[in-house]
Amino acid sequence: MAGAVPDLREQRCSESAAAFARGHTMDPRIASLVPGFEVPFFQAGLAGYSDHAMRLTARRLGAPYCVTESMLDHTLLTSRRKRRAEHPDRVAGADRPIAGQIVGHDAGEMAAAAGIIVEMGFDVVDVNLACPSKLAKRRPRGGNLLADPETAIEILSAVRRAVPTKTPCTVKLRRAWDDTPEMALAFDRIFGAAYELGFAWATVHSRTVEQRYIGRGRWNALADLVRRYPDRLIFGSGDVDTAEDIFSMMELCGVQAVAVARGAIANPWIFRQARELLAGCEKTGPSLAEQGGVLQEQFDQRAILLGERKASILMRKQSIHIAESHPAG
Ligand SMILES: Cc1cc2nc3c(=O)[nH]c(=O)nc-3n(C[C@H](O)[C@H](O)[C@H](O)COP(=O)(O)O)c2cc1C
Repeated sequence: MAGAVPDLREQRCSESAAAFARGHTMDPRIASLVPGFEVPFFQAGLAGYSDHAMRLTARRLGAPYCVTESMLDHTLLTSRRKRRAEHPDRVAGADRPIAGQIVGHDAGEMAAAAGIIVEMGFDVVDVNLACPSKLAKRRPRGGNLLADPETAIEILSAVRRAVPTKTPCTVKLRRAWDDTPEMALAFDRIFGAAYELGFAWATVHSRTVEQRYIGRGRWNALADLVRRYPDRLIFGSGDVDTAEDIFSMMELCGVQAVAVARGAIANPWIFRQARELLAGCEKTGPSLAEQGGVLQEQFDQRAILLGERKASILMRKQSIHIAESHPAG
């Protein structure tokens, strides 16, 4: 019974993760593809959270690389306002290196959106085949395309052709649409095609699309992928809540880098802590003063970019999450 097999995640051990971090050497292919991506973790795309302000905090605290929230291809094509809002140089070059992530259902529109991402000056074009949101009368996109390998591969192919060879293309996937053998095969086809088409790496979220964000991811699935494709750059995502989790995922699954998602909302210091573990030190903080400082910095940044009213609304949910990692518990 598949459900009875304990997941690798259960084998996480802080001491072992810290020892792994101390002895870790970064895969050199990553920084040669994206100069500046120098440590094996990054700020994942988080719609509704990972805006310029959150990313600047993540970078100040040690994230070497960030992915934007997913941007709908059609919106990028039709809205100058959206393009201005998402422009990577809106914060004067401080938000780099960065991937612009696009999502959509039509290969032609996705290719055109990828062209815009390149024109806007993003360092990497990331294709989202992971978002679980369902669209009533519209065609599936994001993770729902994992059930439609022909369309998914058509999109990957059109995007890669639209982007100059010197700009890396990457893809974000779920481990499959669901746990049926048919969907496992569909995933394999799409995953294999991405590398054949020249995609630099795939970041695989260890939950299925059907799971959305509920329940645990299956790290075994990541380990299995790495075992089957040892030469490929494969990044992992799912249930990365602490700095130790980053290195546990690398140690237990063999992925070369790890996406930090919800773990960075309440605790952006996760990036500093991960760097401390890499340096063989004890992880530190945050202090109360540092928490207050991050809230102030994010409010100020959002107020400049969005105005005080919008900034206040966004800060409400951010503050609740940060309060979760309050040093007084
Ligand atoms: C609110 C929310 C928004 C998200 N938005 C995006 C997104 O825009 N692009 C993306 O690639 N992943 C997105 N994700 C997925 C995360 O990047 C990550 O893969 C997922 O949360 C699993 O990691 P975690 O369990 O460590 O949070 C989102 C997740 C959440 C919870």
